[in-house]
Amino acid sequence: MHSEHFVTAQRSHLCGALRAEDAGTSVRLGGWVHRARNLGGLVFMDLRDRAGMVQVSFDPKWTPAEVIEQAASLGAEVVVLVEGEVAERPEAMRNPEMLTGSVEVRAKSLRIVGPTTGAPAIPVARGKTEKLAAEELRLRHRFLDLRRPELQENLMLRHRLLQATRRHLSDRGFLEIETPILTKPTPEGARDYLVPSRVHPGEFYALPQSPQLYKQLLMISGFDRYFQVARCFRDEDLRADRQPEFTQIDIEGSFVAQEDIIALTEGLLAVLFAEAGIEIPKIFPRMTYAQALERYGSDRPDLRYGLELFDATDVFRGSDFMVTKGAIEAGGRVRGLRVPGGAALSRKQVDELELLAKGAGAGGLLRLKFVNGAFEGPIAKFLPAGQSAVLEASEGDLFLMVAASDRVSNPALDRVRQEAARVMSLVPEQARSFLWVLDFPMFDEDPKGALAAVHHPFTSPHPDDVSLLATTPGRARAQAYDVVYNGTELGGGSIRISDPAVQERIFTLLGIDEETAAARFGFLLEGLRSGAPPHGGIALGFDRIAMMLSGATSLRDVIAFPKTTAARALFEGAPTVVPAADLADLHLETTGVPE
Ligand code: AMO
Repeated sequence: MHSEHFVTAQRSHLCGALRAEDAGTSVRLGGWVHRARNLGGLVFMDLRDRAGMVQVSFDPKWTPAEVIEQAASLGAEVVVLVEGEVAERPEAMRNPEMLTGSVEVRAKSLRIVGPTTGAPAIPVARGKTEKLAAEELRLRHRFLDLRRPELQENLMLRHRLLQATRRHLSDRGFLEIETPILTKPTPEGARDYLVPSRVHPGEFYALPQSPQLYKQLLMISGFDRYFQVARCFRDEDLRADRQPEFTQIDIEGSFVAQEDIIALTEGLLAVLFAEAGIEIPKIFPRMTYAQALERYGSDRPDLRYGLELFDATDVFRGSDFMVTKGAIEAGGRVRGLRVPGGAALSRKQVDELELLAKGAGAGGLLRLKFVNGAFEGPIAKFLPAGQSAVLEASEGDLFLMVAASDRVSNPALDRVRQEAARVMSLVPEQARSFLWVLDFPMFDEDPKGALAAVHHPFTSPHPDDVSLLATTPGRARAQAYDVVYNGTELGGGSIRISDPAVQERIFTLLGIDEETAAARFGFLLEGLRSGAPPHGGIALGFDRIAMMLSGATSLRDVIAFPKTTAARALFEGAPTVVPAADLADLHLETTGVPE
């Protein structure tokens, strides 16, 4: 940060930027009273601005008596202007934990420019062991919460990541082009936020779930390389890593293949991680979607630890145990994971793992311990003799298994695997795992055979699987890829369909008839019929990247004004009820507000 840019008519320096070299300089500072200690006639104040904090000392040796008195009366979070001189602190008084810890500002004058009424609603300054205020309160008083040095750091990092993204992509010929916010539904799998039109009664705009169709149209228009820091809106169930409005680094290129997008993404992520001081591998490992599900039960496996899944169907095939027998006869499998040392977990801990498996849809979690050289547990007696060696048990192992179809066991074992790793402390603190998951299926097939797009309906089939579209489309792979970091999906994309005939065929397979296709995506089909280059791209979840790089555990800590998990903006108080007259202007009526 170049502190000379911060010199204004009212201040000469930034509080947090003062260092030993500034000793002897007269300064004028502006900032918030972080905390003040009154030692009886002597006041020490931590004055805070965006750059950090500095200690200001009000001492009869250099401060007029009335100024000391005024300083002694100040509460936290008052905004003041201070004039004084920078001095090196005596050796014993230095604070190595503060960047400004070797200096203090000896105050000569003080002016209150931003008084407060009473104590702040939530504390900004916090002792080392002091807990944060409850999140609801913090979001309600967000302007105070945002003053916390941690959140200031997060938003500054976010800014640097944005600038680095723009520089990197612009230097590589990508054009930043904005696309509309008032638009038409884009299918990304979530519900749309709708905006009623006043001038067209009964008609609605949709807020974009992503700029997907626009970026494809830009390729058709010849812009060749596009990017956008794009705001996306999705009305879906929220979690710590999901917000209803979030930001993507959205990218598209023409005449590209999957390898081009992969290399570009690896390069961009290297730059972004470097911005946070982290060096990452130049090339990420890869796995197919099928392998990821088989080995980890997830399309975004966390590879910082092992706990790979095994298939024990053959072990149980001859067994009379009803649970496994029933599942195997119904075409399912017995799959599970081996937790080394897991035999030491308490019954309660294993019950909790089972609850997670059940929560993810499994009927239960089968358990076996291997202690004193033998299997133990209620199902041990069902293990056919001679088969147990297949499980390759070591002393102290815990085996956790689900007998079901893969559709049921994958999500259940994924949950169990993650939690077992956490409970057993198997996640090394500094470990990082990047992964490309490739060859996603084109479609998700429900038990009745109806197809839904796994990525989105504009994703190109894998060239080797085009013939499957006519026979067993549920088995066709797509040219779609996700980039995964420590078990979180950072981004996803695909090579698009550029042939209008293929696009129409995919719509038909998805059950979208010609008329609906024309009404919903006519503009894309028209575009594809007017000379479309082969194209493809990716979108990276920018908030997620900022969250992981700042070490935050919630997206809300890297978004200035986020929504709660109940999709409310607590600070400004949105959504709100609007006057009936406003609704009437929009040709709307509500069915009433639930009690
Ligand atoms: P996709 O839907 O996979 O792809 O989204 C891309 C990335 O956006 C992030 N993301 C979210 N982040 C925060 N809150 C949310 N609710 C949320 N939803 C998604 C994730 C995800 O990997 N148009 C396609 C991209 C393409 O094909 O080029 C798309 O939007 O990190």
